[in-house]
Amino acid sequence: MKFDPWSPEFVAHPYDVYAELRRERPVGFFEPTGQWLIARHADVNALLRDRRLGRSYLHTATHAEFGRPDDPEFQEPFWRVVRAGMLDVEPPVHTRLRRLVSKAFTPRMVEALRPKVAELAGGLVDRFAERGGGDLIAEVAEPLPVTVIAEMLGVPEADRHLLRPWSADICGMYELNPSVEAQHTAVRAAEEFSAYLVDLARHRRENPGDDLISALAQVADEGDRLTEEELVGTCVLLLNAGHEATVNTTGNGWWALFRNPAELERLRADHGLIPTAIEELLRWDTPLQMFERWVLEDITVGGVDIPRGSEVALLFGSANRDPEVFDDPDRLDLGRAENPHISFGAGIHFCLGAPLARIELAESFGALLRRAPKMELAAEPVWGPGYVIRGLEALHVRV
Ligand code: HEM
Repeated sequence: MKFDPWSPEFVAHPYDVYAELRRERPVGFFEPTGQWLIARHADVNALLRDRRLGRSYLHTATHAEFGRPDDPEFQEPFWRVVRAGMLDVEPPVHTRLRRLVSKAFTPRMVEALRPKVAELAGGLVDRFAERGGGDLIAEVAEPLPVTVIAEMLGVPEADRHLLRPWSADICGMYELNPSVEAQHTAVRAAEEFSAYLVDLARHRRENPGDDLISALAQVADEGDRLTEEELVGTCVLLLNAGHEATVNTTGNGWWALFRNPAELERLRADHGLIPTAIEELLRWDTPLQMFERWVLEDITVGGVDIPRGSEVALLFGSANRDPEVFDDPDRLDLGRAENPHISFGAGIHFCLGAPLARIELAESFGALLRRAPKMELAAEPVWGPGYVIRGLEALHVRV
């Protein structure tokens, strides 16, 4: 097999290909996407922190100056939303946007949410267990982080069912070479989502609540610290980033446990392992397999020159299995002590929600271990089509 992000076989098990890349071609040009694939942990980690690369180049050059085509006109509403969020901007705009929301996501602030997260997780798992099981993804993995982030932002309960489809459609644009149909779907979702948020923010400006949208709407009112577009871009990012990867970590994580029954038994016998188990599940089968960066100045990686204007694809899934960093990297070891996995990124865009994600995962795995101690697989799961954002379509279990 070779690196083929459009092949279901590769998506189901990319790890042997990664091992070969790390050994034989740790920095290599990938013709079908025109990107440099970066496979080793040391390189991925260093490039994430290297300011000669950026999530965007538009703060330093136009598309033409970078030798890239203009965005097709129909995509304009999509990029307007996405490029207004902190993930797709660089300093100084990034610094300003991140500072505005980071107060809500400090370890202390999110620790205060733990009882609420535990109560939500407990309720979801109780109902799931009473029904004798079902699709763990749709019934537990998804509603927990969606509810948490929607409550933090202040999205009314009646509208929450809209979030997951919008998010999934928007994320379609992040896959490699998305189809024209997927691009149109993503644009439509971005338009609907941002129209919804503009209305909600206006409403909250007049009727503020104790939520992040109200707080941001207030900041946007106070002058030039936050434009309406940035407010919408930030909320779309928080709502999407705030659940996609957590849903997939839960699904991929349980599927990993079912395939490693001795480790599952070890965890069932000792719930004290939950914190290291969560880190190990994030490492072993990371839900975000790849992130991209633009090369803003010429760089050399592993002896290979990569010129300004290139794009690198950082293979997180490969970095997390690098034997230079992890002992016996293909083994799932829920007690792994040294675990510098890269699943939350590194550098200035390091995941803002990492402390929250860790709490959500610990509480949902904890609730399932306690309240569904004999949960077992009911059907072989199938991977969704995504490679960059990689997760199971469904995970049917019996309780
Ligand atoms: C298991 C769950 C999660 C994983 C694996 C994950 C992973 C990541 C990664 C790898 C990045 C950096 C992307 C890059 O450098 O290009 C990132 C950024 C981000 N994540 Fe997460 N994330 C998770 C959960 C969350 C949650 C729950 C939130 C809640 C709000 C969140 C909010 C964000 C935000 C706002 C950014 C952008 C930060 C910036 O640009 O400065 N994430 N995440």
